[in-house]
Amino acid sequence: MPESASTVAPKVDALYFYLIGVTLFFVFLIAGILIFFVIKYRRRSPFEIPRPIAGSHKLETIWSVIPFIIAMSIFAWGAQVYFEQVRPAANTNEIYVVGKQWMWKLQHTTGQREINELHIPVGRKVKLIMTSEDVIHSFYIPAFRIKTDVLPGRYTISWFEATKTGTYHLFCAEYCGMNHSGMIGSIIVMEPTEFDNWLSGNANQQAPAVAGKQLYQSLGCVSCHGANGEGGRGPTLVGLFGRKVFLQSGQTLTADESYVRESIENPQAELVTGFGPIMPTFQGQLTPEQLIQIMAYIKSLQVTNPPGTTPATGPSPAVNPGASSAASPTQNTR
Ligand code: CUA
Repeated sequence: MPESASTVAPKVDALYFYLIGVTLFFVFLIAGILIFFVIKYRRRSPFEIPRPIAGSHKLETIWSVIPFIIAMSIFAWGAQVYFEQVRPAANTNEIYVVGKQWMWKLQHTTGQREINELHIPVGRKVKLIMTSEDVIHSFYIPAFRIKTDVLPGRYTISWFEATKTGTYHLFCAEYCGMNHSGMIGSIIVMEPTEFDNWLSGNANQQAPAVAGKQLYQSLGCVSCHGANGEGGRGPTLVGLFGRKVFLQSGQTLTADESYVRESIENPQAELVTGFGPIMPTFQGQLTPEQLIQIMAYIKSLQVTNPPGTTPATGPSPAVNPGASSAASPTQNTR
């Protein structure tokens, strides 16, 4: 077994050993009964005719119900571990990951970039927001028991919390061309104070949100989607991330990385109620890293209460248009 160094690793291992245990139990049970029956019911004389058997409902019920219960226990346990692994907790350190033939490009939200190496603190939750520049890759850290496909044109999420300091292998686990086997790296788990030192020692790089803000202005996004609602031709983007969005088609969805990318590259696909199909596409004009920067900038646009106003007790109308969305389209924000 590879080393176990994340909070989810013992859970994955326990499920794995349960599967091995169930398998071994039935291998020996079936083989044992087989051998026993071969001996017990062997033909004793050349003229022996076996006694006819009409079947047994009791036996059939037992050998159907018990395997059903075992199969469902594997399903329930597997689903529980799976959901824990795909649903990142709140308050995570976010890391942007871009896979390309044949390297891993990683960036911390504070701006530090790394290639084929990721420094992270022990005992803190780390969320990976991953995309690919070319073909499908797969981000695999055996010691953490995480493996998630990294896809072009989509964002996949994974998270982990390391439990031990040290250096661990990072692999690409999806055949991606000639140097697939060389698409490897290391995960360096440090003590939190050591990590903070490392992070501040590499602080000369621009944070993705800052780079995103510059892109946002240079591309002219701001003329329609002003951060404070100016422009007005497009929905304001303040507080957008993680919020429900109401679409022209009557659908509702939650604004996540994939939604923001879709809205930039194919703006007519998911029109927000109250807004016309006027936004041009930016398909092919942004690299995956620039998209991530814009996304980081949009994420940083959080709702703040202007001084002097009382903080809203519930979601404010501008944040959550709710059922009144059709009646007041100007409140719709994207
Ligand atoms: Cu990237 Cu295999």
